[in-house]
Order: sequence, then structure tokens, then C-alpha cells
Amino acid sequence: MSWFYRTLLRPVLFAQESEAIHNLTLAALGRASRSATLGDALEAFLGAPALPVELFGLRFPNPVGLAAGMDKQAVAVPAWKSLGFGFSELGGVTWHAQPGNPAPRMFRAFAEEALVNRMGFNNPGAEALAQTLSAWHARGRWPAHPVGINLGKSKITPLESAAEDYANSLRALWSLADFFVVNVSSPNTPNLRQLQDRAALDEILRALQEVNRSSAGALPQKPLLVKVAPDLTFEALDEILELTGPRAVAGIVATNTTIARPETTDSASRRTYAETGGLSGKPLRARSTEIIRHLHRQTRGALPIIGVGGIFNAAEAWEKITAGASLVQVYSGLVYEGPSIAGDIVSGLGDRLREHSFHSLSQAVGICSGAT
Ligand SMILES: Cc1cc2nc3c(=O)[nH]c(=O)nc-3n(C[C@H](O)[C@H](O)[C@H](O)COP(=O)(O)O)c2cc1C
Repeated sequence: MSWFYRTLLRPVLFAQESEAIHNLTLAALGRASRSATLGDALEAFLGAPALPVELFGLRFPNPVGLAAGMDKQAVAVPAWKSLGFGFSELGGVTWHAQPGNPAPRMFRAFAEEALVNRMGFNNPGAEALAQTLSAWHARGRWPAHPVGINLGKSKITPLESAAEDYANSLRALWSLADFFVVNVSSPNTPNLRQLQDRAALDEILRALQEVNRSSAGALPQKPLLVKVAPDLTFEALDEILELTGPRAVAGIVATNTTIARPETTDSASRRTYAETGGLSGKPLRARSTEIIRHLHRQTRGALPIIGVGGIFNAAEAWEKITAGASLVQVYSGLVYEGPSIAGDIVSGLGDRLREHSFHSLSQAVGICSGAT
């Protein structure tokens, strides 16, 4: 399938403007998602073998998830399970509906297998997303894997009121997802990344855990994770780690896109790299792995990490896992490798576990992190 996609389908898709083809593909997946028969057929063809992981009190059928930003409006919620993903992260969603930045705002650097985007949290707002998610439940099409929601800050909300903005979204969505990710690391909302500073993040986490407690009542609270930027220094990451204990953070998602740009000799990629926005895909891989390794070493493996950034195949997923990630996610890899990517990665991870005579993926987590 990967050969078929790369050779025949991808050239046709890549002849179109990035966001236009993204929207068309999502709409098609959304239509397919409404039918149980089509969903089952898709899963029979593209589904992944079982490679279960237990984490945060949740059971993941396999460790390869869909990264945030692909399905911001939850239009294809059941499709991600059919395509073999072990979990999905929907959104980013903000409290207020917003259009995002003017188009064009998503660009390919084909030769480098990278993307640059400055979407700017285009989304229908938390209450509208809640209605869409309720509708998937009502149709009986809720997927049999954990679903997370990525929470961002509304552009119109000043930084001083960020905690309330995030808290409002969590309150509206609490009952509709299995875990939540606090996104303070997107480069595309002005000054958002300042919220990674210790005091600001502490205030947001305090407000979110308050909503978590009051929404849960007698039920267990929902795992709350923090997604970090690859451009943070190790010292800044360590400050975030200091908050994770007191604020009961369940894990870190590492990493978001980078504002850095690598050297390239390809002139088309140079033009893409000149665009403002966050870079994802192959050029992000090494830096995001480095961050995962640092986080795993600093916490001696005590804090779960979801590894994301430049994963295109099983070898690159294995690199993230052995550096310290318990789960991984892909975005750009799906664009460049096509819809068989999750199944292909899970199969390859299964092979590696057998080669090492490991009985479960957790035995591989962090074996190359340098943590003692
Ligand atoms: C078009 C686009 C939109 C994205 N939107 C979000 C978002 O809303 N929230 C978020 O946390 N990350 C977002 N991301 C970042 C991805 O979730 C992921 O962290 C990043 O792309 C690195 O993974 P990759 O190299 O597999 O693409 C977006 C990425 C892209 C390319």
C-alpha cells in the first residue's frame, strides 16, 4: 500500500494545494466514517495488528496515534481506528470559534519530506466540538480506542486570562474524551509559547485540574498532559517537569512543530522554509528525539512521554520509544507515507519486540535513553 500511495496516489494529491487536499481527504474519510460497513472494510484492509499498551489507566490497542491538528473538527473520528491508529488526538480546539490565519497557511517541502504550517487554531470552538463528538456517540460510531483532545488558547483571549479560556474548553469537553493535552507550544498563536513559562503554566494547570476535579465528581479524573515545543532549552523543560508532580500532570507530549529551519540545497524547500510557521516532518525528527531522551532521563522514566516529530516508519518509531516514549504519534508521516502508515509501523514494532525477546512494548521504553 505504501508503494501504491507513494508512486500513484501521492503525485495526484500533491498536485493540489496542501490545505485543499487535506480538506477533501478528511471529508471523504468523514463520509466513510458514517457507515459501519465501510469502516469495517477500511479496517480489514488497513487496520493494525494488536500491540496493546496500558497507560494512564487506559488501554491502547497499539502505541501509534494520530497527532493533533489532523482532525481539528472531529469530522472523521471513527476513521482513525479503521486506519490502524491505536489512539487519536482531536483538535486543537479553543474556547471561542476562530477562523485561523489567512490562507495559504500549509506548505510542503517535498524534497525534505517536511511541512510548514501557520494554521493558527482554525476550529469551531469547544462547544461546537462537543456537539460533534456527542453526535458520533449517538450514532454508535465511537471508536474502540482512546480519544484525546488538544486544548489551545483563543486568539482573542489575552495571555492573563489564558487559564480561564483553557478551563472553559475542558469543562465543555470533559465527558467526551479519554485524555486532554494542554497545548502551550504552537508557534502560530501570538505569544502562546510564553505560557510554557513556569508561573503561567502553573496557573493554567491549577485551573484545569480544578475543572477536572469538579467534573469528575465520584468518577476518576481524566489524564492531563502538556505538549512542549522542540525549541525549549533543557533548562526550560526541567522547569516544566518541576510542575508535573504538584499539578498531577499525567505525561508530556514531545514535541510540537519547530520555528527553526535546517540548511537545505533544494530551492523549492528553501522557499517553503521562508514561510512563517511551524516545521514538521523529517527535519524535526532528531530534535524531538533528543527532547524525549532528556525528559526520560530527567524523570528516570517515571513520567510517560508521547513521542511525536518526524516519524515515518517503524525504525523511527522505535528510536522514539527506546529514547523514552511510551506511545508515539504521526502527522507528516501520514501525509508522505499514506494511510497504511500506522499498520506498517505497528507491524515493524512487533518484529523488533520479537528480535529482542521482549513480551511487551514497555520493556523497550527508554532502553537507549541513558537513564540508569
Ligand atoms: C497542519 C498542522 C496542524 C497542526 N495543528 C496542531 C494543533 O492544533 N495542536 C497541536 O498541538 N499540534 C498541532 N500540530 C503539530 C502536530 O501535532 C505534531 O506535533 C507535529 O506536526 C510533529 O509531528 P510530525 O513530524 O509527525 O508532523 C499540527 C501540525 C500540522 C502539520
